[in-house]
Amino acid sequence: TVVALSGLAAACGSGSGSGAASPPKLEFRNPLRIPPLLQPRPGKDGVRRFELTMQAGRTQILAGKQTPTWGFNGTFLGPTLRARRGDKVQMTVRNRLPEVSTVHWHGMRLPARMDGGPHQPIQPGAEWTPHWTIDQPAATSWYHPHPHGSTARHVYRGLAGMFILDDDLDLELPAEYGVDDIPLILQDKEFAEDGSFGGDPLKGTFGILGDHILVNGTHDPHLTVTTERVRFRVLNGSNARMYRLTFADKRRFHVIANDAGLLAAPVEVEAIELTPGERAEIVVAFAPGEQVVLRSADNGVDIGEGDFDLLKLVAAAKLKPAPAVPARLAALAPITPPAGAKVRRFKLGGHDSINGQEMDMTRIDEVVPAGAVEIWEIENTVYSHNFHIHEVAFQVLDVDGSAPPVYSRGHKDTVYVPAKSVVRLAVQFGHFTDPTSPYMYHCHLLRHEDSGMMGQFVLVKPGT
Ligand code: C2O
Ligand code: CU
Repeated sequence: TVVALSGLAAACGSGSGSGAASPPKLEFRNPLRIPPLLQPRPGKDGVRRFELTMQAGRTQILAGKQTPTWGFNGTFLGPTLRARRGDKVQMTVRNRLPEVSTVHWHGMRLPARMDGGPHQPIQPGAEWTPHWTIDQPAATSWYHPHPHGSTARHVYRGLAGMFILDDDLDLELPAEYGVDDIPLILQDKEFAEDGSFGGDPLKGTFGILGDHILVNGTHDPHLTVTTERVRFRVLNGSNARMYRLTFADKRRFHVIANDAGLLAAPVEVEAIELTPGERAEIVVAFAPGEQVVLRSADNGVDIGEGDFDLLKLVAAAKLKPAPAVPARLAALAPITPPAGAKVRRFKLGGHDSINGQEMDMTRIDEVVPAGAVEIWEIENTVYSHNFHIHEVAFQVLDVDGSAPPVYSRGHKDTVYVPAKSVVRLAVQFGHFTDPTSPYMYHCHLLRHEDSGMMGQFVLVKPGT
């Protein structure tokens, strides 16, 4: 008999969807799709204008099948946005979907009204035009819908894209988009017989743990690399699945950035873990003519067990030389809570509340002075969750009293919170005050976020 082990089997739905079943063997038949860079229209005022249209359509993901999907400026996923520190950007986001959605700039430091959370709905047929000045270090961010209660479904349908931020630090890192600087958006899907995405993003403990992993929307992918070193910007854009990324030949590679920016120095590892919403930038060295498979190894936890091949990398017979990874990267100021820093505690229970309360869009849970550095303690009393805070950068102080892995000690905005553990964060809040417009914090397992594991904070002038 099939027993629903604490909801995990139930979460996986029926048949091939079980995360415990061995995943389909890949043949690496399809060239990896690289999302196009969206060209902004420069205005006379120096503002860079980006246009995004959310639309529905059909996409061929599996050979001979048409999958109903949603996308930005196309039928599936979205273009890569790119902007530089100091740029003024203006977005025009159109909703051509049959239902209300929003677009949230995950990882962006901006005023709450521009954030694209559940308080900035875009009705079908309407458009939304947020604008802000990019003022944060180089990083790999992303964008995705955030309508309360529907985020899991909208993201699962295909609404997600990368947002690369540059700054003026002149480092010798691979930086040619699509050549030696490659986005890798990891998303797991279930497919029904007719090619449509199966599974219910709001069922079971974790929602969806699909047995097919798409990279940039490509099923069964390979990529030819042409340089001795390649930088990969990896985004876990999955609803719930956690990955332990490693190479089949166990080669070591360098982690150069966490969610919110470059590390102080590269960290050499054999594997990294990424939970939903997290990003990492890695640099991998290749020898001419070789092939190696990027995979996700069993991490022994409850969200994403099993070994999956993700992507075959094929090095060209002749590779363009590339400099070694610089020994020093960014000198981002450490986020250090002052003596007597405010400590807030957030208790994660089942999957639908924080501190015993479900998300309520009319309730402000926390009032934070602008510019503060606080300690946020995330206490997880049950199975795996993670935690994302809008607008901030944070550093992980400790996990159950121990320092986090060296490769994850940089600036972040999303963190894994293992089952039955306490993660302490040093959180740097920004300067945009608005006592009536909240930012969100939540578990980024979208089924949990949608069912209420989310809260709201506002930034106010210090002393008010
Ligand atoms: Cu990536 Cu509140 O989300
Ligand atoms: Cu969760």
